[in-house]
Amino acid sequence: MSIVPTGVPGLDQMLNGGFPKSRVVLVVGGPGAGKTIIGAQFLYKGITEYDENGIYISLDENKEHFQSEMRKFGWDFKKVEEEEKFAFIDATTMSRVAALREKVYGEISTLRGKQLPIDKLVEQLDEKIKQIDAKRVVLDTLATLFHRFPDPIERRIAVIDLIESLSELKITTIVTTELNRRGLDRTVSVEEYMIHGVIMMQTLFSEGVTSRALQVEKMRETKINPNLVPYTIDKDGIEVFPEVTLFERR
Ligand SMILES: Nc1ncnc2c1ncn2[C@@H]1O[C@H](COP(=O)(O)OP(=O)(O)O)[C@@H](O)[C@H]1O
Ligand SMILES: [Mg+2]
Repeated sequence: MSIVPTGVPGLDQMLNGGFPKSRVVLVVGGPGAGKTIIGAQFLYKGITEYDENGIYISLDENKEHFQSEMRKFGWDFKKVEEEEKFAFIDATTMSRVAALREKVYGEISTLRGKQLPIDKLVEQLDEKIKQIDAKRVVLDTLATLFHRFPDPIERRIAVIDLIESLSELKITTIVTTELNRRGLDRTVSVEEYMIHGVIMMQTLFSEGVTSRALQVEKMRETKINPNLVPYTIDKDGIEVFPEVTLFERR
């Protein structure tokens, strides 16, 4: 099995080299955990250090915003897009149009993917993959989909549909999602059989000190470091410290 280096210092060590190639990995974290940054880092380092082109599918922010935010880390997504090494798929309007239609017509469909046309999205992705010969994909974030599909059954169908389609593309993929107060959204954990690995990003508060902590919850076919370890976000992006264990395992 081939290994794909993530481009996140320290994380590859925890994963015995990186992600398994052509699989879907879920990155879970609350708002501000660094999900967008880790996804962008995976793509940018992929392009600039590992010669693997990438595609970012955004469900909640537009291209200009993404590009200007990521420039702060020295990642010039505009340039790599011009070089046809990167593509940005703006799926925010897709979901907005569907939301509007629903509002105007009171149309709530039980059909697969109608509220976010998942088949169209996947079709567009497939086209882009071929066009730029992409090897990496990031979908950020599933959490948006949860707001779009308030009905848990419809939501589950949409999530299955999307993740199944992504895994069929045989591209190394990160899908991000949010952690709610009760922990991992059950909708996603139910679908975990289609997901190859899960990485948790958390913010811990203890005695007035805030620390960021990451854990590789699972990664099939990989010998992982299962410890909860610290990570930082600074001007170079995300770094993980696998040697530092926050809690001893019992
Ligand atoms: N240069 C920086 N130095 C330190 N922290 C930063 C920097 N830039 C952004 N952050 C932190 O990154 C977080 C936002 O990351 P982001 O990937 O957008 O989160 P998410 O997508 O999970 O909501 C915020 O908590 C912010 O404080
Ligand atoms: Mg984000």
